Amino acid sequence: MSKTKTHIYKNNPAVAEAFARYLQKQISTSDVFHIALSGGSTPKALFEYIAKNYAREIDWQKVHLYWGDERCVSPSHEESNYGMTELKLLRHINIPFVNVHRVLGTRNPAEEAKRYGEEIVWNLPLKNGLPIFDMVLLGMGGDGHTASIFPHQMELLTTDKTCAVAIHPESGQKRITLTGKVINNAKEIHFLVTGASKTKVVKEIFDKTGDYEKYPASFIDHAEWWMDEAAAEGVS
Ligand code: 6PG
Repeated sequence: MSKTKTHIYKNNPAVAEAFARYLQKQISTSDVFHIALSGGSTPKALFEYIAKNYAREIDWQKVHLYWGDERCVSPSHEESNYGMTELKLLRHINIPFVNVHRVLGTRNPAEEAKRYGEEIVWNLPLKNGLPIFDMVLLGMGGDGHTASIFPHQMELLTTDKTCAVAIHPESGQKRITLTGKVINNAKEIHFLVTGASKTKVVKEIFDKTGDYEKYPASFIDHAEWWMDEAAAEGVS
């Protein structure tokens, strides 16, 4: 297997700046760009940086935004990934309303997982019978979860569904998540992971040691990892 590509920077803001520059270049060379966004602290820093520095440098007419996972809450709820993105990015950019494909977090979760999956299949080209995103952004939790695929629901990595209902292991909160097969079908997958709380899990995933087989993030293929020095400390 080819060596996992890593991009390591001093801190969270530096990761956000570097990835924003890369993302702007990728969008500029595309006619249409379907990207699944992530929640979490590093994507939040990325959205802030883009809003401040690239709001007018990116042709948002060709960008279609989706969410790799969303909490089953209203868009105004403090835990809404869409709500965070709207605050940090969407209100600062001129993106057509129809290009923003949010999860309807207050609908019945099982029905919304089906509906959102159909919206994605309707809008994206297919490969291997699955929708193909131009890019999927992912974070990683301290338990090795990614999107909202948690260690106690590893079956969400291999289900044939496009989206599924996930359950947070501690809070029991329901979420809608892209499934592993759809994530792995993307043209590009980028992990944005920062902070010392991720060091141990990142090292186990890269070295394939310890509990790595319990981490959903271990089963994401061909991903590039954008990290700060703290998260990447154990990566050679
Ligand atoms: C979510 C995110 C989740 C997140 C990780 C990492 O909805 O919670 O999609 O997968 O990326 O929990 O979050 P931090 O970067 O804030 O540690």
